[in-house]
Amino acid sequence: MKILITGGAGFIGSHIADAYLRAGHDVVIADNFGTASEKNVPPRARLHRVDIRDLSLLRRVFEAERPDLVNHHAAIASVAHSLRDPTPTMDTNVMGTLNVAFLSSEFGVRKLLFASTGGVIYGDPPRLDLPVSESYPRNPLSPYALSKVLAEDIIKFYASRGGFSFLVFRYANVYGPRQNPKGEAGVIAIFSELMREETRPTIFGDGSKTRDYVYVDDIVSANLLALERGENEVLNIGLGKEITDDRVFQLVADEIEYKGNPNYAPFREGENLRISLDASRAEKILGWKPKISLEEGVRRTLRVKS
Ligand SMILES: NC(=O)c1ccc[n+]([C@@H]2O[C@H](COP(=O)([O-])OP(=O)(O)OC[C@H]3O[C@@H](n4cnc5c(N)ncnc54)[C@H](O)[C@@H]3O)[C@@H](O)[C@H]2O)c1
Repeated sequence: MKILITGGAGFIGSHIADAYLRAGHDVVIADNFGTASEKNVPPRARLHRVDIRDLSLLRRVFEAERPDLVNHHAAIASVAHSLRDPTPTMDTNVMGTLNVAFLSSEFGVRKLLFASTGGVIYGDPPRLDLPVSESYPRNPLSPYALSKVLAEDIIKFYASRGGFSFLVFRYANVYGPRQNPKGEAGVIAIFSELMREETRPTIFGDGSKTRDYVYVDDIVSANLLALERGENEVLNIGLGKEITDDRVFQLVADEIEYKGNPNYAPFREGENLRISLDASRAEKILGWKPKISLEEGVRRTLRVKS
């Protein structure tokens, strides 16, 4: 199958590209290298340096490649960045998605997979409601979360009119090798880089804020299963566990043998206090189950210097 991966040179997209190639698919990557690295691009993938905000340039890629399936991962993926300056996030994540969905319908793409967020799309559900399922109301607290709400709806709109089927993944916090430690998302990559430099990492809040985490190989397996299964579904992908910032700090510190303590800084507005995702629907629809615990995933991540 010919698969176009937007954002395929980024952290998650490049792991998916590797797996699709290993499975024998023809892989095309569209990326503007905003946060990507050349070394992430698998040599056997065809690369188009293109900005998804540019409809006419992106149309040339669809014209040249005529993909059977589009896997849309390109985005600006930072809550903090979106709070400081919402325009780039909205341009890329909303208008870029509009272009991808519009062209998918124009060029007869069979299926569109989309990387949304379960980490921040539900806002701050009370602890009693956790882990949340996909029917829980969306409640964006940041422009980034709002951009994913709008992008999901754009995809559903074009799928219903344009003849392709869709699968929206709402990922928990994804981590693993190749995650950018210089970014503002990806706390395991950020903490480990700082600890290795003997610089004290900062935790925003008092350490009790929680996130659900999922190792990148488990994300890859969901994206492989989605090539064959699941039509017009929204699926949470996570372990269903609330993990505190303090726990993540300790896991990384133990692995690196870092003896220091974190700095605690004020909680950042626009970030949610807690989340965990019920991924039982992904098991029912795709047969997906996470295989890597957080402890094992942290070990694997830190063994490979990204
Ligand atoms: N990492 C996570 O924890 C997480 C959680 C939920 C959802 N997601 C989503 O998964 C996707 C991939 O995230 P990631 O963590 O790999 O981040 P990443 O920054 O490594 O990947 C994003 C990719 O998109 C590319 N890109 C950005 N703007 C572009 C544009 N205008 N045109 C073309 N390419 C562009 C970047 O160069 C990069 O390669 C994003 O859509 C993100 O919102 C990530």
